[in-house]
Amino acid sequence: MKQSHKRILKEIGLKAAACGLKAWAVGGCARDLLIGKHTEDIDICVEGETSPLIEFCAEKYGAEVLRFNDFGTARVNLACGLKLDFVRCRAEVYAEPGALPKVRPAGLKEDLFRRDFTANALALSLMPGEFFREYDFFNSKEAVLGGYVKVLHDKSFLDDPTRLFRAVRFAARFGWEIEPFTEGLMRDAVKKGYVNFLSRQRIVHEFIKILGESRPYQALKYAAEYKLADFIFKGLKFNAKINKLKTVEERLAYLALLQGSCGAEFAESLLLPKKITALSLEVLKWRKSKAAPFKALSKEALRVIKLYKPGIESFRLKPLFLCAEDLSVLGYSGPALGAELKALAKAQYSGKVRSRRGAFSYIKKAGF
Ligand code: CTP
Repeated sequence: MKQSHKRILKEIGLKAAACGLKAWAVGGCARDLLIGKHTEDIDICVEGETSPLIEFCAEKYGAEVLRFNDFGTARVNLACGLKLDFVRCRAEVYAEPGALPKVRPAGLKEDLFRRDFTANALALSLMPGEFFREYDFFNSKEAVLGGYVKVLHDKSFLDDPTRLFRAVRFAARFGWEIEPFTEGLMRDAVKKGYVNFLSRQRIVHEFIKILGESRPYQALKYAAEYKLADFIFKGLKFNAKINKLKTVEERLAYLALLQGSCGAEFAESLLLPKKITALSLEVLKWRKSKAAPFKALSKEALRVIKLYKPGIESFRLKPLFLCAEDLSVLGYSGPALGAELKALAKAQYSGKVRSRRGAFSYIKKAGF
């Protein structure tokens, strides 16, 4: 971690002490710092009110503050790149499986115990006199350094079945094992249908997080192994080439192509905003048309299609060599012109036409 970032965290700790509060960096950032992974996203857990620390950051660092209506939670963005998520230490009560929990104030230990996995339950003190001291109540360090995913208690997946997806994501990301007891709980949770307690949106949210990983294939493979992939899309097809694409949109589009005739059903079933699935629809439309596109395909679509069909001839992807104007210059007009263009597009896709000149002679020969 950059020294300048450490200094800011130290100053937040000093402010906390001055206000009679206690603060820790917790969860994913403590885990990442332990394995030397750079992180600028810091979750800060506070015993007591978060507002004095949030206001301190706004005044001292001119930070942008986004407050959420949720238990003193706020995202504080600093110009130096640090993103601080403040939240009060809390305990969670799950009224019913899969529902969002009810929360009440609690101490640090209880807050850490409510979390998903031991590896995510480490806290680093921000307090003066013990800055960055580890608070490790649940053998978190051992899990992070030993490389395993382990739940903190046996109701973890019942409380929050999204953790099934998180488990495969962390196992894949870090190359960790899922320890045997947790693995048993996962299989049991899937068998008992806990995933059905989740809304479609929450499942898709976890799926998108998987696609945002640097190597989503490994996580999808685990998801299939644990029979979670079917909840994303029944019979989900995927392969290792997905790792070659960099953005979630491209990876989604690639998966849409891989689903064959169910591609559109797959894309629609995710209920995502259009801007995320637009690329999927573009490549599906190209494939369905079996014709050269009238408008140039986007460079993202070309990347996805070339990965899906390596060695595909470039004329099949190029926009139609002739446009309506070309045909009208040749004397074609009226409603037939559209049909002629369509036939030409099919001929270009199938390879009967491979250049602009070839398109002109095709028209002449076809004798439209
Ligand atoms: N957490 C949890 N159960 C969940 C989601 C989150 O217990 N279903 C806890 C974990 O302690 C996690 C922390 O909240 O570390 C922050 O959540 P999130 O940002 O989703 O996790 P990170 O571990 O920071 O993951 P990433 O590195 O992917 O951001």
